[in-house]
Amino acid sequence: MNFLEIAENRQSCRAYDEGRAVEPEKLNAVLEAARLAPSACNGQPYHFTICRGEKAKAVAAAVSGMGMNKFAAQAPVLIVVSEKPYVKSAALGAKVKGNDYRSIDIGIAAAYLTAESAAQGLSSCILGWLDDGKIRDICGLDQPVRLVIPLGYAKEGDPQRPKKRKELSELVTEL
Ligand SMILES: Cc1cc2nc3c(=O)[nH]c(=O)nc-3n(C[C@H](O)[C@H](O)[C@H](O)COP(=O)(O)O)c2cc1C
Repeated sequence: MNFLEIAENRQSCRAYDEGRAVEPEKLNAVLEAARLAPSACNGQPYHFTICRGEKAKAVAAAVSGMGMNKFAAQAPVLIVVSEKPYVKSAALGAKVKGNDYRSIDIGIAAAYLTAESAAQGLSSCILGWLDDGKIRDICGLDQPVRLVIPLGYAKEGDPQRPKKRKELSELVTEL
């Protein structure tokens, strides 16, 4: 698949095959893609905590408040993405320019990670609805949890949905 095909193919999966584990080499490829992502001043202000088994179930419960994201409990792997402090140059840039580079960096890493997941035939979903305090306790983290990404194989028959996106004419202005 070329990148546009991967982008078409990747979708937020909300039904996982609970009986199918993620192969270690595929998980490695997915994490390697995130490692290669660009970041402000190359600061890489993120950390990935891999949860399986009971830890995954506990994290799944912590993304399921108010009836949301119940499907997370089906995924064999949950990747917790937490924030790390800025490197000095990025901190300075963020202050001077009033821009939150860490969230941008985490978003890019998540995009790389989920794109490579699709390239590996895996399914994923970026989750921002989460209980930071609970997940920090479960994972022993002392920095904010920004995203949780369930990873696994889609349940058989889970349909590929057509993409709903704004038209380029709405997204792009040419001057
Ligand atoms: C930062 C972020 C947070 C998200 N949080 C959730 C979430 O908590 N639960 C969920 O089901 N989907 C979540 N999504 C997935 C979006 O709903 C999804 O990407 C969007 O509707 C486009 O659909 P697609 O990913 O299938 O192309 C999130 C996506 C992003 C980028």
